[in-house]
Amino acid sequence: MILRDKVGLITGSAQGIGRAYALGVAREGSKVVVADLADGSGTVKDIVSGGGDALLVRVDVGDESSVAAMIETTVEHYGRIDYVVNNAGVYGSLTPQDWDSIPTDEWNTTMRVDVHGQYLVCKNASSIMKAQGGGKIINMSSFLAHVGAEGGVHYGASQAAIIGMSRALARELGKFGINVNVVTSGLTMTDASLGIIERSGMSSVVDKIVDAQCLKRPQQSEDLVGSIVFLASKYSDFITGQVLNVDGGLVLY
Ligand SMILES: NC(=O)c1ccc[n+]([C@@H]2O[C@H](COP(=O)([O-])OP(=O)(O)OC[C@H]3O[C@@H](n4cnc5c(N)ncnc54)[C@H](O)[C@@H]3O)[C@@H](O)[C@H]2O)c1
Repeated sequence: MILRDKVGLITGSAQGIGRAYALGVAREGSKVVVADLADGSGTVKDIVSGGGDALLVRVDVGDESSVAAMIETTVEHYGRIDYVVNNAGVYGSLTPQDWDSIPTDEWNTTMRVDVHGQYLVCKNASSIMKAQGGGKIINMSSFLAHVGAEGGVHYGASQAAIIGMSRALARELGKFGINVNVVTSGLTMTDASLGIIERSGMSSVVDKIVDAQCLKRPQQSEDLVGSIVFLASKYSDFITGQVLNVDGGLVLY
């Protein structure tokens, strides 16, 4: 169990990829803060019934006082934060649309949650990590930051911004022993992705993407878990400022 006794905070872990991360790190012995705007009690229940240790926290990552309260609750309960996974994001509610008719509100919400939300968690968690002598930040992004795609200019911009922000933060935080890395995921078969595909009538997109991957099957949330376990563990202690692309070889980055 390579994360035994580590304390990890995973945003957006009520469902989808974040839930798989929370269950995966718990299997490796980590204590887990399940933090989400939605109800994450199902994730907590599954971790605890499997013999693990988890704490439920409601948070809006786009709201600094909410993020500060989440960090405070974590430290009160577990005494430290070894790693955070910034996975919460506006994704499943998006519908592919022309780039020049994206409502300003939708643009702003995407940036507020996906970019500023990650920034706020990095800011509040890193002050604890600095005081304890180090820590690890793992920021979730998308293959769409690499390839560009029609239908989601705001989402693509937000995912690329996460990479730029994370590289700058790796430079800022290295002197405090804090690693900052990014995982970019391919199209993953979560309920959120399936909803987008159904609403947009783009059922053939999965076959097209699988065809373009080196590994010929649809990506599942579980495929991403190993990258998080590795980047949260001591085995990645000298890796920072990097982007790990987990997509079955869709983008050879
Ligand atoms: N599914 C994919 O194909 C894919 C590909 C690349 C990147 N991603 C990214 O991975 C992450 C998870 O994707 P998913 O498919 O599991 O999506 P999802 O919509 O199932 O999960 C997102 C989670 O974030 C939470 N959330 C949303 N706004 C929040 C806020 N303001 N504060 C706190 N929590 C909030 C949601 O409640 C949800 O639990 C997202 O950031 C997404 O952009 C997904």
